[in-house]
Amino acid sequence: MKTIELDIQHALYFAEKEYDGLKEAAVKAVTTVHDGSGPGSDFLGWVDLPSKTDEALVDRIIATADRLRERCDYVVCVGIGGSYLGAKAVTTALQDNFADFYLPRPKEPKLLYAGQNISEEYTEELCRLLKGKKFGIIVISKSGTTTEPAIAFRVLKDLLEAQAGKEEAKDLIVAITDASKGALRAMADKEGYETYVIPDNVGGRFSVLTPVGLLPIAVAGHDIKTLLLGAKDMERATALPDEGNIAQTYARMRNALYQSGKKIELLVNYNPKLHYIAEWWKQLYGESEGKDGKGIFPASVDLTTDLHSMGQWIQEGERTIFETVISVKKPAVTHRVPQNAENLDGINYLAGKNIDEVNKMAELGTLIAHEEGGVPVIRLELPAIDEYSLGQLIYFFEKGCGISGYILGVNPFNQPGVEAYKKNMFALLEKPGYEEATKEIKKKLK
Ligand code: PA5
Repeated sequence: MKTIELDIQHALYFAEKEYDGLKEAAVKAVTTVHDGSGPGSDFLGWVDLPSKTDEALVDRIIATADRLRERCDYVVCVGIGGSYLGAKAVTTALQDNFADFYLPRPKEPKLLYAGQNISEEYTEELCRLLKGKKFGIIVISKSGTTTEPAIAFRVLKDLLEAQAGKEEAKDLIVAITDASKGALRAMADKEGYETYVIPDNVGGRFSVLTPVGLLPIAVAGHDIKTLLLGAKDMERATALPDEGNIAQTYARMRNALYQSGKKIELLVNYNPKLHYIAEWWKQLYGESEGKDGKGIFPASVDLTTDLHSMGQWIQEGERTIFETVISVKKPAVTHRVPQNAENLDGINYLAGKNIDEVNKMAELGTLIAHEEGGVPVIRLELPAIDEYSLGQLIYFFEKGCGISGYILGVNPFNQPGVEAYKKNMFALLEKPGYEEATKEIKKKLK
């Protein structure tokens, strides 16, 4: 099977001194991830998750997915952050760009998402769509207390019970949460839902290879065994602290660039299927590293689309950015530019070429232009957009993130800053227990 390749030659000379200086720190960071001697070591369960995942668990997930696929026209995944983005990223990458628009609709159940925002329109429009339809719910929350999914689940559960009856609804709801803590666990036990556990030692943003990601991905009809195999192979390939460990090299390179003044990393793709991979990656790196007044700001662009909106800034704006480009080696299909006798559009020089050939030249031309414009470019080559490659990519980024956070000198596995908005929101909504905070925040509003 083909593996992901990492190329740092278009970035290294921008920060060679810093890269050399991080040699030992990078080795130490890999060792720290593996021996659990660093901060946040209670959350290292993702490190050997691919190789430790029990076959019986995977088979049960597939059986649950088959049941939902059989009985539902729509399955709504309710969750936010790490309980949402991994599944969204993989299912978007693997599905046909126009899957939603085929008529008549294929028999496949459609995967929808909820609880990732608090929009009244989104909620109402989703309910309007689901009215009278056969649907199921996968509700995902590690803490079991997050407000956004709790609201969405309450609304959808009411709708499902009203339409299907309480008994039938019970079989169409699956909860993925903590083994014993949280309101969702209590509710699932009381109502008798099928449940899956999010391991204690796996944080939300590292949980895509647990049932959190695997169940929705299986419901969408994708091969989770091959996804896990790709991850397992990358686990093995990045197990040692040596020069051949591509996660170590990526983490070391991006920290070297950060030290040389490149404070923003743009994750770049040339294929719209990878848009949500970037959204998942932004959470992974942003929440893991943005703390203690430090951290590379993770941003992303979809090219060539965004070359027509962000291209000017990237080429000539403040020189504080570097890029990590995900290049897909082989498209899954072929489509050529047609010949045209009149050539009114003047593009006959492209006739007969695969569209991907044009895309690759746009990619190469952009790499040269950005590099010459002062933007270091790290290149990741993905063999294809398939389950095996995505499994590798997910694990590669997770491992790179743990190593990078330790090189940076932060705890990559906590997220204390996420609480600040919640505290204010609860105070403003006068949640019981927040009486003092409510008084304080009201004073600020005067
Ligand atoms: O990575 C994280 O810990 C967060 O993004 C969480 O996944 C997110 O806040 C959702 O939390 P929960 O799964 O507890 O509802």
